[in-house]
Amino acid sequence: HKPVTEASAVKVPTLPDAQTVTEVQHYTDRLFRFRCTRPASLRFRSGEFVMIGLMGDPDPKTGKQKPLLRAYSIASPAWDDELEFYSIKVQDGPLTSKLQHIEAGDQLILRPKPVGTLVHDALLPGKRLWFFATGTGIAPFASLIREPQTYEDYDQIILTHTCRDVAELTYGRDLVESVRNDEMLAELMGEGFADKLVYYPTTTREESPKMGRVTELLKDGTVFRDLGIDGITPETDRAMVCGSMGLNTDMKAILEGYGLREGSNSEPAEYVVEKAFVG
Ligand code: A2P
Repeated sequence: HKPVTEASAVKVPTLPDAQTVTEVQHYTDRLFRFRCTRPASLRFRSGEFVMIGLMGDPDPKTGKQKPLLRAYSIASPAWDDELEFYSIKVQDGPLTSKLQHIEAGDQLILRPKPVGTLVHDALLPGKRLWFFATGTGIAPFASLIREPQTYEDYDQIILTHTCRDVAELTYGRDLVESVRNDEMLAELMGEGFADKLVYYPTTTREESPKMGRVTELLKDGTVFRDLGIDGITPETDRAMVCGSMGLNTDMKAILEGYGLREGSNSEPAEYVVEKAFVG
């Protein structure tokens, strides 16, 4: 049982935008995932984000509480009955210092206004789709690799995930495994759909089969040699990038170097970028 102080810190008075937590799974002292109920009216496109959070501490002067909200990519696909989120835990983070203590049955606030650029609509048709993620930046791709349209629209989907250590790869690894064994997707897409999905995990601070930042492994050609691909070209390749500021800046330069142009909802092109929530 939680100490009373922690429980009171996460108890949210019932608000119009309150949802109920249904499941929480901790991976490391820095990472966890949770699921919650989905508002019946919430429609979103796989890859989009919403604002979620908790009530903040009471103002010492007025005693009033204000919602503490942050942008979180929805990690579950659009067809799922519930919503899933993948989060960092920052011990002095205003929201995640509290959010990391949520348990099934607790309430959280969810503003039902999904937005974002990591959506199929922001890309022109192509043959191969790359997802480049670091850390919790894998969240929108967790949604997109469970989205049938991804497999309808592309011949090959490559998910790269760079993390500090092996334990931080667990969420993505489990997810890829679950997609490959997903009977509903197999029924919908035909057996063998999962062969389209290529998973390319790398670590930077702990020994693993593939070491190094994905940016470096692209620049020196390692990724292409490993996957038996000639390279990335604007004719066939599309890309979505989600991670730290550094990853996003470096990947933009790399993709522009290959001749890909940044797209948006109003002007689709060859790649799109979004910053992962980091605090
Ligand atoms: P590194 O260990 O070399 O910093 P974090 O947990 O700090 O968000 O980082 C997640 C992963 O992203 C780490 O493996 C980190 O590598 C990597 N990373 C950080 N900056 C970049 C970048 N500019 N390009 C590619 N990978 C990066």
